Amino acid sequence: MPDSPITVDVRLPSDWAAGEMRDDIRRSFANRPIVLPPKWLYDDYGSDLFDQITRLPQYYPTEAERSILVSRADEIAAVTGADTIIELGSGTSDKTRTLLDGFHRGGQLRRFTPLDVSEATLVEAATTLAERYDGLEVHALVGDFTRHLAHLPDGDRRMVAFLGGTVGNFYVEERHAFLGALSDQLRPGEWLLLGVDLVKDFQRILAAYHDVAGLTARFIKNSLTVLNRNLDADFDLGAFDYVPLWDDLEERVDMRLRSLMPQRVRIDGLDLDVALGEGEELRVEISAKFRPEKFTAELSDVGLDVFRLWTDENEDFGLVLARRVTEQA
Ligand code: AVJ
Repeated sequence: MPDSPITVDVRLPSDWAAGEMRDDIRRSFANRPIVLPPKWLYDDYGSDLFDQITRLPQYYPTEAERSILVSRADEIAAVTGADTIIELGSGTSDKTRTLLDGFHRGGQLRRFTPLDVSEATLVEAATTLAERYDGLEVHALVGDFTRHLAHLPDGDRRMVAFLGGTVGNFYVEERHAFLGALSDQLRPGEWLLLGVDLVKDFQRILAAYHDVAGLTARFIKNSLTVLNRNLDADFDLGAFDYVPLWDDLEERVDMRLRSLMPQRVRIDGLDLDVALGEGEELRVEISAKFRPEKFTAELSDVGLDVFRLWTDENEDFGLVLARRVTEQA
């Protein structure tokens, strides 16, 4: 019996991509404009590209969030008194170690549950963490945080962490539904730790999503590779330009692929022919940026009370610690 038991709970069947992706993508192409769900960007190659993006100097969110975690991990541990940490969309759980260190120093870390769509990434992260923290119970969950919140493990005092600014990937209505569903899973007094990228000079924001090395373009175009592979489509990646836009009204980055010419695409797995006009855009991902007061109100609407909002020294990024209120209005 190892000191640090690891269990992996698979909530997604191994062919989940095929089944769920088919429904998702059929819906995407039945509507105009065409909007693709961003979760399909994170296959093994996409996860690796994203990892490389986080190391680009102009992609400021990762280091900004890390610096907040470094200075606040002990405080978060002390304030919450949590012994169980659940991380949604955990990926490599790289920054999470900084957080877990604080809880470990406080002597209160008992169980860590990372939830991610990628089983390979999860198993690797779980193994690394179980080695790092002697006695930590790692209960990994292969799942989709937009669908499997009901399967979060129980625990005495839980804190759910949703880091990196991923909450910015939701469109406003989806975000409201997601935060509401998440809040519903928490008992009064339980905690949520959320990383949010803040509104700032839009040139700096755009630069983070438009690197000259073309990593972001490759990451966004990988959505088409995923469709080619999983749904037998014949998208020609060279027939699209990557176009990042700043939407000043919605305060979000809009990452699109623009068709360079009129073209027909065959998606065999859906028995579907798609006609795209010259200049027609596929909306692949958004990354919303936040204002503290507005976001605090959004959380309050779903029964989450902001205890603290910390920022890094440049005020680029925010880390929000919120608590489930006793009774929802
Ligand atoms: C993983 C969703 C936080 O929105 O900044 C980075 C994804 N896309 N560059 C973000 C992303 C292009 C990233 N999140």
